[in-house]
Amino acid sequence: PAEDEARVEEIKRLLEAHNAVLVAHYYTDDAIQQLAEETGGCVADSLEMARFGARHPAETLVVAGVRFMGETAKILSPEKRVLMPTMEATCSLDLGCPADEFAAFCDQHPDRTVVVYANTSAAVKARADWVVTSSIAVDVIEHLQARGEKILWAPDKHLGGYIQKQTGADMLLWDGACIVHEEFKAQGVEDLKALYPEAAVLVHPESPAAVVGLADVAGSTSQLIKAAKELPNDKLIVATDRGIFFKMQQAVPEKTLFEAPTAGNGATCKSCAHCPWMAMNALDNLADALHHGSGEIHVDAELRRAALKPLERMLNFQK
Ligand code: 13P
Ligand code: SF4
Repeated sequence: PAEDEARVEEIKRLLEAHNAVLVAHYYTDDAIQQLAEETGGCVADSLEMARFGARHPAETLVVAGVRFMGETAKILSPEKRVLMPTMEATCSLDLGCPADEFAAFCDQHPDRTVVVYANTSAAVKARADWVVTSSIAVDVIEHLQARGEKILWAPDKHLGGYIQKQTGADMLLWDGACIVHEEFKAQGVEDLKALYPEAAVLVHPESPAAVVGLADVAGSTSQLIKAAKELPNDKLIVATDRGIFFKMQQAVPEKTLFEAPTAGNGATCKSCAHCPWMAMNALDNLADALHHGSGEIHVDAELRRAALKPLERMLNFQK
């Protein structure tokens, strides 16, 4: 629509005027992803978003995604102004892992190396030895296991269980889940697979074990897009937030993509697999953030120093 076009032009002007760059996650609206791409920003998974923001010379980072992504950007670049279209965009994993309860859990298991998923608050990261995202989690745990370390993992039990299976590491799991990925149903994927036996199955490891068990490839959002390109199959069943279809379809225009069912009856669901918090990012609030400096992320200095250590370990980790 014409209003959206005007908004897009306005945001482009504002980004330039503020020496700002837009960093967007694959689950945000198509229009936001497109804008990030057109303006020299990035559309990426959570690890690449962190790397891009930390390295980019812009004075202001506009992070379209959820709260932990903005916080991570600020922790890595305290000298930059970090804005988010909305401060309300949280994550069920972050909500399900309050810092005080988590600290008590860690205190009960002092013999374990604490590894937390990026989808956590700065306060939870501050208590961790390592932060990981889904694209690097298996490699980091393998490395720690080889050193004989026992792991305390939080908050995603499905991702934790998947890593445990892959590596055989001794992992104590926090009981958290992503409300979006948890809805995928193995029966639904099997029914779809029966209709299209030649299709490959791509799954984000925040999904339940039964669904990951059906995957030809399990991985982070970027890894799934890469797999879509590399696999020979021309039909792909995809179990992750439907926001990913924008870039994935661009990457493989000749392939047919199917949303993995979130109900057990084999019917695809057009609106279920979409994160309600990612969906809060819109052109209007993005423009507002740039106009008024609303949605600015601040992280307490002491907390920042403590959270930086495990984040830097992640960024410096080489397989
Ligand atoms: P990745 O993009 O790192 O795969 O993470 C997925 C996610 O849940 C972000 O909310
Ligand atoms: Fe959190 Fe799941 Fe939304 Fe990602 S998709 S931000 S893990 S609730």
